[in-house]
Amino acid sequence: MKKLFIKTYGCQMNVYDSERMYELMAPHGYKQSNDYSEADVIILNTCHIREKAAEKIYSELGRIAPIKKKLAKKGINTNIVVAGCVAQAEGSEIINRQPIVDIVVGPQTYHKLPEFLSRIQKKSSRIVDTNFPIENKFDSLHHNREVANVTSFLSIQEGCDKFCSFCVVPYTRGLEYSRPASDIINEAKILLKKGAKEICLLGQNVNAYSSVKNNKSWNLARLIREIANLEGVKRLRYMTSHPIDMSDDLIRAHGEVSFLMPYLHLPIQSGDDDILKKMNRGYNVKLYLDIINKLRIVRDDIAFSSDFIIGFPGETDKAFNNTLKLIKEVNYAQAYSFKYSRRPGTPGSIMKQQISEEIKDERLSILQQLLNKQQIDFNSSFKGKELEVLLEKPGKKDGQLVGKSPYLQSIYVNSKMNKIGDLLKLKIISTTKNSLEGKLIKKSFEESNRNNES
Ligand code: 5AD
Ligand code: SF4
Repeated sequence: MKKLFIKTYGCQMNVYDSERMYELMAPHGYKQSNDYSEADVIILNTCHIREKAAEKIYSELGRIAPIKKKLAKKGINTNIVVAGCVAQAEGSEIINRQPIVDIVVGPQTYHKLPEFLSRIQKKSSRIVDTNFPIENKFDSLHHNREVANVTSFLSIQEGCDKFCSFCVVPYTRGLEYSRPASDIINEAKILLKKGAKEICLLGQNVNAYSSVKNNKSWNLARLIREIANLEGVKRLRYMTSHPIDMSDDLIRAHGEVSFLMPYLHLPIQSGDDDILKKMNRGYNVKLYLDIINKLRIVRDDIAFSSDFIIGFPGETDKAFNNTLKLIKEVNYAQAYSFKYSRRPGTPGSIMKQQISEEIKDERLSILQQLLNKQQIDFNSSFKGKELEVLLEKPGKKDGQLVGKSPYLQSIYVNSKMNKIGDLLKLKIISTTKNSLEGKLIKKSFEESNRNNES
């Protein structure tokens, strides 16, 4: 067996793609390795969302170069692949700048990796493929899934047509594409058969999912309802959503499908209407808050997460304060925040009134203090209460297991009688910003009867 090492950067879509790459390569004699100093093939599956992404990849390649040389002395010819969104954006620039790279492959053509590798192993020419034959990719990926974790990702939609003025995704991942519903349901069945308990439906714009089969149209709500009825499913999630595509049908599903977890990542980016307009987000603060309220009506325990961009061109003190106001109003369980990063080729990068780094740093620190406080308070509100956990992996200490709550909090527990994949109730005994500690309540039990609730 040859050894394959993949380093994954960025979003969950890349995590999914990396799993598919392992599966793709397995029939060609490659097994997963966690150490690149002994790998026959090294793939960097890259992310381009913020600045310095490409520089990070060139430094990583700089670190790999001497390892490749060392292995060559031992007679091992390590092939280096740059995949993902930096590959898409930089293309042949990568092989021009870094001679150790053999293959540059974008997110839409990685299914050709085995073919590319065998081609370069026969002839020592290098390959760059950053085309967009999107249908092809999912059709050519294995229908069988080898990698099924207790919590598994399932990509249902890719790309984006929204063209937010700060974002490179429409240029690197291409326009919106939804996989056929029947393919998705088949993949879900395979994952569940292989031991998945929780499925997270993935897409850059997951709630823009739309497909037609036998004259019937499918949206995300319908897909969720269908997958919730499959045998073995215990939890469902989806990400990442755009507020503009939160249909009433999808909101209703949150109240009706008990397996759909009461936690939603719904990025608003800014709490100021003028900035939202300049960002080309297509909604205002009122519309966002209306969605949050509707969701709270159908599912009163639902918790929210968001992304925020600080220092977008033209962000005044007043605009920034509007973002703080919005955060206070929603009260997030958790959130991600970033300084605006000028991405070449996007409209935001050439807008006037760019904000200085000093102001961005200052505002980011104020905003993160508020978000951190909300996260600490959210977690501590569970102290002394019972929470359900799905155990996902061993903890750092002996006898410890770690899993996730319905609200995506990490919970750890000491238990010798439970195993990964168990769904059980714990009493929360302590909390921090990033995790909760639970203890077993009398005898642990798997809540298999939850099936009957839906
Ligand atoms: N600068 C800063 N943050 C960005 N994001 C996307 N593009 C940029 C950018 N140019 C953030 C958004 C998005 C998340 C995935 O990354 O908040 O939701
Ligand atoms: Fe980027 Fe906006 Fe599309 Fe999200 S919706 S991927 S932020 S362009």
